[in-house]
Amino acid sequence: MAKRTGRVGIVGLGYVGLSTAVSFASRGIATVGIDVDEGKLARIANGEPPFVEKGLPELLGKALRHRRLMVTSDCDALAGAGVVFVTVGTPSADDGSIDLSCIRNATSSVGRMLRRSEGYSLIVVKSTVIPGTADDLVMPVLMSESRRKQADFGLASNPEFLREGHAIEDTMHPDRLVIGVEDKKSERTLVSFYRGFYGRLPKILLTTPVNAELIKYASNSFLATKISFINDIARLCNSIPGADIRVVAEGMGLDKRIAPGFLSAGLGYGGSCFGKDIKALLSFAQSKGVELRIPRAAHETNERQPLLALEVARKHLGDLSGKRIAILGLSFKPGTDDMREAVSVVLINGLLKAGASVVAYDPVAIENARKILGSEVSYSKSAASSIQGADCCILATEWEEFKRLRPKNFAKMNRPFLIDGRRVYDPAVFRGKLEFEAVGLGTESPR
Ligand code: UDX
Repeated sequence: MAKRTGRVGIVGLGYVGLSTAVSFASRGIATVGIDVDEGKLARIANGEPPFVEKGLPELLGKALRHRRLMVTSDCDALAGAGVVFVTVGTPSADDGSIDLSCIRNATSSVGRMLRRSEGYSLIVVKSTVIPGTADDLVMPVLMSESRRKQADFGLASNPEFLREGHAIEDTMHPDRLVIGVEDKKSERTLVSFYRGFYGRLPKILLTTPVNAELIKYASNSFLATKISFINDIARLCNSIPGADIRVVAEGMGLDKRIAPGFLSAGLGYGGSCFGKDIKALLSFAQSKGVELRIPRAAHETNERQPLLALEVARKHLGDLSGKRIAILGLSFKPGTDDMREAVSVVLINGLLKAGASVVAYDPVAIENARKILGSEVSYSKSAASSIQGADCCILATEWEEFKRLRPKNFAKMNRPFLIDGRRVYDPAVFRGKLEFEAVGLGTESPR
């Protein structure tokens, strides 16, 4: 176990905040979690995570049992905390720019708490924010609300890079820590906190807040660009007999300069970060008079990518009106019940518009999907029941249980026809047994 550290606070108990809070608590750190949503706080205090995340139920239970995590809506509970992490959401405004209202509110509350408390506290912004937010928004709000001088508290930008579905693992074993600070005391405080938490420190990049903020946007936009790039090449593969994007990506990834990650072609990226962050970066750049062509192209490519499955279905079935289409997987990726920006939503809305009837199955996301897609979609209790009687089945999210399906599992379809939207099935096994199409898979090469 890591060396004991003083009490810490976490403001905002979403994916980042709650995963970070239970990770800290699991290593003996007394943690206070703040959120404005009383319903969410009640669930957390009861040991029920408000979202599906591997390892979270166990760590949350342990943190509560050992009384290392306390949650409340009252920011005054943060008084005396040596380090306070701000992990509130930064959603998109209607025009795609970043909505900083949660950051502003959270910072004001923390500032008022500082006014009433004594001693030094370091405020650490983990939320994804546009460059300049720490210096131009957070610091002035903290100073005016706390009525304290800058030297009485510290400020750091420390963006979070965790992935949903791997949130605990990524918090415990990050590739790197990016820390943006303007003064030595803030730097020493945060590095020493992390030394206590990690024991052996991960790689650390020390820089200014502005660079730290931009590193987060540039990283997410670059990863999104890698995905859109491979999806573009996949479209080309679809039109070349014998071509296979999986082999092409594998060959590319063997080059150390390219690296294999984020080269899995599919129906596009979803989730709460990539789309939102690219839009915020584009809007921010535009405000500076700079046009970012590559992130824009990545975003546009991704917007049309889910509809690739619809085009393929149409190529085989003709008019989709009255056709029954099975969708396997609804969440934006496996390991989560998060439906934000899920490609399944774009695809299903396209199918419904074309007059198809949609029968969908997901191991955990149906409840959340229903809130977005409503009752126009039928929801199944199993993959088998959604597939039965369908004219086409589209794999939209690569859950493990779908990877185990074999051609015989599709035999009870009205027309055994599978579109692999995530490249999980071996064409050598599926081709010839049923109609089989896949993202980035050209027709069989004529020999
Ligand atoms: C992402 C970043 O990875 C993380 O560092 C940041 O903090 C938040 O945003 P997350 O959205 O949780 O994390 O998921 P991620 O695993 O990155 O996947 C995002 C989307 O890209 C998913 O829809 C996934 O299916 C898709 N994806 C990912 C691909 O289509 N191909 C790939 O090769 C990788």
